Amino acid sequence: MDVDKNQSKETLKKEIENLKKERGAVILAHYYQRPEIQEMADFIGDSLALARIASTLKEDVIVMCGVHFMGETAAILCPDKIVLIPDENAGCSLADSCDPVEFEKFVKAHPDHEVISYVNTSAAVKALTDVVVTSSNARKVVDSFPRDAKLIFGPDRNLGSYINSVTGRNMLLWNGACHVHEQFSVEKLVELKKQHPAAKVLAHPECKKALILLADVVGSTAALLDYAVNSECNEFIVATESGILHEMQRKCPGKTFIPLPPNDSTCACNDCSYMKLITLEKLRDCLRDMKPQVKVDPELAAKARRPIDRMLSLS
Ligand code: 13P
Ligand code: SF4
Repeated sequence: MDVDKNQSKETLKKEIENLKKERGAVILAHYYQRPEIQEMADFIGDSLALARIASTLKEDVIVMCGVHFMGETAAILCPDKIVLIPDENAGCSLADSCDPVEFEKFVKAHPDHEVISYVNTSAAVKALTDVVVTSSNARKVVDSFPRDAKLIFGPDRNLGSYINSVTGRNMLLWNGACHVHEQFSVEKLVELKKQHPAAKVLAHPECKKALILLADVVGSTAALLDYAVNSECNEFIVATESGILHEMQRKCPGKTFIPLPPNDSTCACNDCSYMKLITLEKLRDCLRDMKPQVKVDPELAAKARRPIDRMLSLS
């Protein structure tokens, strides 16, 4: 049975490799993807790295193994390329927490404010934005504004509140959040810290403030990975989506990574159900059928591109 499963996995991987060559495609994957998807990728990275890489690729077909806003960002940056996403239902609860019509009302109610939006947003929200940020560069981009600038930050209230605290700003925050990062249990973290007193706590800034206050390092997935690689510490409690553990373990084979569990769950780790929609079968099918494609209306794409380009030039 297991031999059969392994064989079919190997067959699928070969099919994907062959189709990728036939189509002249490149595969990008976020760190939260399933291990077998990360292993098929030409590039893996956090959302900033994926946007940067997408903007420099020579291939005509980009397969985005991530969530929809990542595919949209690639499509906006590469209007002449075909961008495929293996499952178009791979959304993002944080992006969904910011309805563009409501966001526009909020922005219009504060006409003297400049608008900073997290990359986890729809193209329509980006089009209402002055500059986009990711968790990798949010602090740097916010610091680039004059101290007295009036700023709106959306949609993640946790990232916004963290950036307010480290920059001493008082940005107006949109009340959105990610269902994965909001679910991490502070009680279970306290318990794990007692069991592993030498472990460093690595947290993504989308986590709630109570959890951030207990973290040793707060950063994007790439920043947490870099810290784990360069740290002299051998044990880490990881408060972000558990897909990142695959790359952490691959880059640091001798170190121990403990996923922080969510609240109210017997499960040991916290998965993003959207990220996990992408499977080898769907990756094969999308390369074979050249769909689903991520398309953004050209006029909207042009408006959404300006704040992304501004971010890329600032970071
Ligand atoms: P990164 O910017 O760290 O890749 O995070 C993206 C994301 O969706 C976090 O939940
Ligand atoms: Fe969106 Fe949260 Fe999933 Fe990241 S982990 S893609 S913010 S739902």
